[in-house]
Amino acid sequence: MSARVLDGKAVAAEMSNALRPQVAALSAAGHTPGLAVVLVGDDPASAVYVRLKSRRAEELGMYHRQITLPATTTEAELLSVVDGLNADPAIDGILVQVPLPAGIDKDRVLDQILPAKDVDGFHPVNTGRLWQRRAAFVPCTPAGVVELLKRTGADLRGKDAVVIGRSNIVGKPMVALLEQLDCTVTLAHSRTRNLAEVVGRADVVIAAVGVLEMVKGAWIKPGAIVIDVGVNKRPDGKLGGDVEYAAAAERASWITPVPGGVGPMTIAMLMTNTVRAASTRA
Ligand code: GUN
Repeated sequence: MSARVLDGKAVAAEMSNALRPQVAALSAAGHTPGLAVVLVGDDPASAVYVRLKSRRAEELGMYHRQITLPATTTEAELLSVVDGLNADPAIDGILVQVPLPAGIDKDRVLDQILPAKDVDGFHPVNTGRLWQRRAAFVPCTPAGVVELLKRTGADLRGKDAVVIGRSNIVGKPMVALLEQLDCTVTLAHSRTRNLAEVVGRADVVIAAVGVLEMVKGAWIKPGAIVIDVGVNKRPDGKLGGDVEYAAAAERASWITPVPGGVGPMTIAMLMTNTVRAASTRA
């Protein structure tokens, strides 16, 4: 089998374009959707992600504000920036890029964002609502993965899915979302024994570990759907995923490339969440 490629770039462009009329309608009604992106410190990867997010918001005609703070910013200063954005009627969505510099308690900062403006879906209120299948802002990367899974047209009910990686940003919310698709879900992590076997049983594999090509192509069950969330630097400086792409593509029915798979979807879902926040608040 040779896998079909899930083109995240194309799906993300389609989803972003579908938001344009909504942004225009909200603006015409007097409330342009507004996104604030906060970057603290000088992590180069974070700077790239933040720029991409601001640029897309601008392209869609949204109001956006990028706040860049030095690595020396204190937790109290950052909390006061968040308070200001919480109170600002022009801002519908607030995103504080993580990781944050050492010395700042990430949870303390993310908890300060109003749940109604938490377009990243990181606030415990949104996390809890997600697990209870109540309306919530869903973290953008796993939400983007769901959109890609839908594009395969596969009936996932009762299928075995494995999520590798248990982060709050991707792995854990991904488990909740796959359960909502009626998959039987296994959450694998660094202590999982016989990962090859666990992956080999799965009809859907979501790799979110952050280790270059850690998931071997030979592990993949023939016909499985493989979604690679990893963004890792190869020795030659280029980007590579968590999955051994070429070997996995020999066995999978569908696979996402890196770059051009999940990455663009994260941004499209952030825009979707922001427009939703604006519609709710308008
Ligand atoms: N760092 C890596 N991914 C994300 C994300 O989706 N949102 C934020 N705020 N920080 C991140």
